[in-house]
Amino acid sequence: MNPSSVHLVDHPLVQHKLTLMRRQEASTNSFRRLLNEISMLMAYEVTRDMPMQDIEVQTPLETMQAKVIDGKKLVLVSILRAGTGILDGMLSVVPGARVGHIGLYRDPKTLTAVEYYFKMPGGMEERDCIVVDPMLATGNSAVAAVERLKELNPKSIKFVCLLTCPEGVKTFSEAHPDVPIYTAAVDRELNDHGYILPGLGDAGDRIFGTK
Ligand code: URA
Repeated sequence: MNPSSVHLVDHPLVQHKLTLMRRQEASTNSFRRLLNEISMLMAYEVTRDMPMQDIEVQTPLETMQAKVIDGKKLVLVSILRAGTGILDGMLSVVPGARVGHIGLYRDPKTLTAVEYYFKMPGGMEERDCIVVDPMLATGNSAVAAVERLKELNPKSIKFVCLLTCPEGVKTFSEAHPDVPIYTAAVDRELNDHGYILPGLGDAGDRIFGTK
């Protein structure tokens, strides 16, 4: 099978905001706000081919058939804890979406993903899933999250991150060639501690101000 497709969201607004987020001096407040704004813009890209349905609406002048997204069928799956940063922005533009959570932490020695929480809405076989995590670094958490999600047999899965690197793309796409990746940038490399270079540091710490 071909490797996962990588959709680079290179819109100037996204790239500008990403640059502001990378800066060491960006405050927790502005980092979080920028991530929120980028997530809304990424939501626009990732939902581009979402199925729509016609409903009848009454305008002030007449009745017509008009299109709506079936947001209730969509599940945004947040990989805890940094996924929350993307989830909030996406929910503000797709408020009807359901939300699932996968709790994974990175074992600091092995850099492998360890699951501690998993909660999804019912009827997953009928749902399209968008998995969100700001950093696709080693790819281990993303691979484990999608593996777990596939056990529930959802209709489709897409993966959205803010940043990734060649190593993360390779690991993820070898494990899940059927899952497209949406990202704002593919950075140079992964370092020995599992951080993306040049990157933006620890996304969770920067979102929640925990460093
Ligand atoms: N997770 C982060 O938050 N940052 C990285 O660079 C890699 C993984």
